Amino acid sequence: MGTGLLDIIILGAIAAFLVLRLRSVLGKRTGHQGGREYDPFHQEQMRRRQEQARGRGEQGGEPSGEEDKVVHLPDSRGDAGREEAAPDYGDRPGAAGLTRIKLADREFDPDQFVQGARAAFEMIVGAFAQGDAKTLRPLLSDDVYSDFAGAIEQRREAGERLETTLVGIKSADIVDADLRGKTAFVTVKFVSEQVNVTYDEEGRVVDGDPSEVETITDIWTFARNTSSRDPNWSLVATAAPN
Ligand SMILES: *[C@@H]1O[C@H](CO)[C@@H](O)[C@H](O)[C@H]1NC(C)=O
Ligand SMILES: *[C@@H]1O[C@H](CO)[C@@H](O)[C@H](O)[C@H]1NC(C)=O
Ligand SMILES: *[C@@H]1O[C@H](CO)[C@@H](O)[C@H](O)[C@H]1NC(C)=O
Repeated sequence: MGTGLLDIIILGAIAAFLVLRLRSVLGKRTGHQGGREYDPFHQEQMRRRQEQARGRGEQGGEPSGEEDKVVHLPDSRGDAGREEAAPDYGDRPGAAGLTRIKLADREFDPDQFVQGARAAFEMIVGAFAQGDAKTLRPLLSDDVYSDFAGAIEQRREAGERLETTLVGIKSADIVDADLRGKTAFVTVKFVSEQVNVTYDEEGRVVDGDPSEVETITDIWTFARNTSSRDPNWSLVATAAPN
C-alpha cells in the first residue's frame, strides 16, 4: 500500500518534470512562446555562466569557445608572476641592479650575460693584441675605442708588436649592476691567465716575459640600451682592481 502510493508520487513528479522540460524545450525551439517560457532556461544559462566565471577566477579555468578571451588573463598573470619571481637574485653582487635590469629587459639573464662577456673578453683581448681595430669597433663604446685605438696606434708608431696569449679565463663574475635611465650597466671581474709580451722591430722583448704566465684581473663594465632592439652589449669602461 505504502510503496504503491510512493510509486505514484514519484511517477507524478517525473511526469510533471518531463512536462516542464518539454515546455521549456518547445518554448526554445519554436520561439513563439515569448519571454515567460523562455526565461527559466535563460536564467539557468546565466547562472551557469556566472558559476563558470567564478570558477575561472579561482582556478584559472579551462579554455573553451567563448571563454577564449578570458584565457589570456591567466597567461598574462603567469607572466607577471615570472616577473616577480625572476628578479630574485638573492644576495649576489649587484642583485638590486640585476633586478632593475631584468624588469626593463625580460630577456636578460645574468648567466647568459656572463657567457657572452667571456666571449667578448677573448675577442677584445685578441683583437687588441693584433691591432685589429675593425673587430674592436662594434664591441667598444666610443671612449673605450678611442683609448684602445690610441694604444694600437702608439705601438705601430714605435714599431712594436704585442703578443698576448690568453691561456684561460679563471673566473668571470658580475660584481656590480645598475640601470640608469634605460641603459643597463653590468660590471664583470675577469681573472685570466695571460702571456703578455711586447717585441720591438728586431723581435727583441721590450716588455713582459714569454715564459711567464701572469694572472691578470680586469674590471670591465658593459652597457646596453634596453629600449633598443640591438641585443649587443658594448664595453664602456675598463679598470684595474684597486
Ligand atoms: C701587456 O703588456 C702591455 C705592454 O707591454 C701593457 O700595455 C698591457 O696592459 C699588458 N696587458 C695586460 C693584460 O697586462
Ligand atoms: C635607446 O634606444 C631607443 C630606441 O632605439 C632610442 O630611442 C634611445 O634614444 C636610445 N637611448 C640611448 C641613451 O641611446
Ligand atoms: C650584434 O653583434 C653581432 C656579432 O658581433 C653582429 O653580427 C650584429 O650585427 C650586431 N647587431 C647589431 C644590431 O648591431
